Amino acid sequence: MKRLAVFASGTGSNFQALVGAAASNDLQAEIALLVCDNLNAPVLEKAKQVGVPVFAFNPKEFDSKAEFEVSILEQLQFYNIDLIVLAGYMRLVGTTLLEAYPNKIINIHPSLLPSFPGKDAIGQAIRSGVKITGVTIHYVDQGMDTGPIIAQKAIAIEKDDTLSDVEAKIHQVEHSFYPEIIGKLVNRRFESETSVN
Ligand code: GAR
Repeated sequence: MKRLAVFASGTGSNFQALVGAAASNDLQAEIALLVCDNLNAPVLEKAKQVGVPVFAFNPKEFDSKAEFEVSILEQLQFYNIDLIVLAGYMRLVGTTLLEAYPNKIINIHPSLLPSFPGKDAIGQAIRSGVKITGVTIHYVDQGMDTGPIIAQKAIAIEKDDTLSDVEAKIHQVEHSFYPEIIGKLVNRRFESETSVN
């Protein structure tokens, strides 16, 4: 069974969904490690409750991204991680990890990329007036939400939708879509970079 590390910075609802999918065998993979760059993130408590090992660190205690990524890499190797899954990890991945895990780092982003990359993607979509937004799962490269797209799902923005209405719709989709697509990827043994939906 493939061993996954989830990287998260905040709430961790996607982390929780992935743990749940793995526990019920909807996702045939093991959530073997949580990596967290925020010592106050609620996701830490969630990992504790379900017994997933945690590597949490404060980036400010390191001189550079390369330095903290070397520490992350040691943990990834210790736990024999096959695939890195970013789930609300609000930080660009650097060359240390990209070179150690080529084509084995994926991200979920709350918009139909290449529209609305970066922070506050849902707010950006609402303010722009688009009627359709969505969720993108993609391989991670050096850029901000720029890597090859694996799968996308569209979500309607209705006339009276508030930010929290759209957030709720997006989260609901993410929580089943991410486990589904990761399941397809791990079964394919990462042989293909093409879309899986
Ligand atoms: C998710 O909606 C995810 O798509 C987004 O952060 C949220 C994390 O929620 N990621 C990005 O915006 C990445 N650019 P969670 O902590 O409850 O899983």
